[in-house]
Amino acid sequence: MHVKHLGVLTSGGDAPGMNAAIRAAIRTANFEGIRTSFIYRGYQGLIDGDIEQVGPRAVANIIQRGGTILRTARCDAFLTPDGRAAAASRLDEHGIDAVLVIGGDGSLKGASLLHHEQGVRVIGLPGTIDNDIYGTDVSIGFNTAMNVAVDAIDRLRDTAASHDRIFLVEVMGRNSGHIALNVGVAVGAEAILIPEQRPSVEEVAEALVAAAERGKQSSIVVVAEGAFPGGSLELQRQIMDLAHQEVRTSILGHIQRGGSPTTRDRVLASRLGFAAVHHLQEGADDVMVGVDRRGNTLVPLTDLSQRHKDIDWKLLRIARVLAT
Ligand code: F6P
Repeated sequence: MHVKHLGVLTSGGDAPGMNAAIRAAIRTANFEGIRTSFIYRGYQGLIDGDIEQVGPRAVANIIQRGGTILRTARCDAFLTPDGRAAAASRLDEHGIDAVLVIGGDGSLKGASLLHHEQGVRVIGLPGTIDNDIYGTDVSIGFNTAMNVAVDAIDRLRDTAASHDRIFLVEVMGRNSGHIALNVGVAVGAEAILIPEQRPSVEEVAEALVAAAERGKQSSIVVVAEGAFPGGSLELQRQIMDLAHQEVRTSILGHIQRGGSPTTRDRVLASRLGFAAVHHLQEGADDVMVGVDRRGNTLVPLTDLSQRHKDIDWKLLRIARVLAT
């Protein structure tokens, strides 16, 4: 059944490139003769009826902008069946017969519940800097966030080398180490700490002492935010105690989520927004459109709850050798 009216929303943490995906979906849908609406503030705006019908000019001049023009939210009400029923009623009132959700794992699982409980036609795109979504090699925003982190850590390396210092740098990623691992390799980190494989503090301290003994003037330790239960400042204290060296800590935080998307994220988002509309027209429902080496992937949204995206273990082994 062809879609007549598509609603587009972004949900969860914003990610650079979301605007490029919104633009691609709205333009493609209009090109295909489908009416389009913005749904503001994610699922919260959907429940509140914060919806506006728009045409292709509404997405002018946004491909280069970070954040999301639709704004976003983490919505508690949508976690309940009543909230999802209210969301479905708003869609009916506006005559919207399919929804494109651009967001992370939790947002896409929410879309699936909306489909299974309320019969709403949904399609998802992976939009998160964390790159932790099963079924796609890469998610919108990951590349930009990595580049922001690499740029920041290159600067830290300059000052670390001047002062013979160790720097701990905490990067985002919630419970996953994809950002930390890739960024760690890109900056030549002496140690990379990720939740998937936590070395003990003793091992990290020993590695840093050994690095100094090998003649290294500075060390960078990239720490994923979920890697050390006590947090990076506690990790810093413990490493200073054990290694007897000066350590500074820098938490990059939300800086990684902002700024203009890289070319790679803009192109990825444009491809995915285009593909999402075409897959909907071909009958797709309750799926996410992702990418792998062969092209687009179509992943049932229910798989996202059941399967886990592993980190690249080979890259971790490479990082250890290259840090010697
Ligand atoms: O999921 C994206 C992300 O930036 C994570 O890396 C981080 O743990 C979380 O969102 C931060 O969430 P908030 O913006 O709500 O503080």
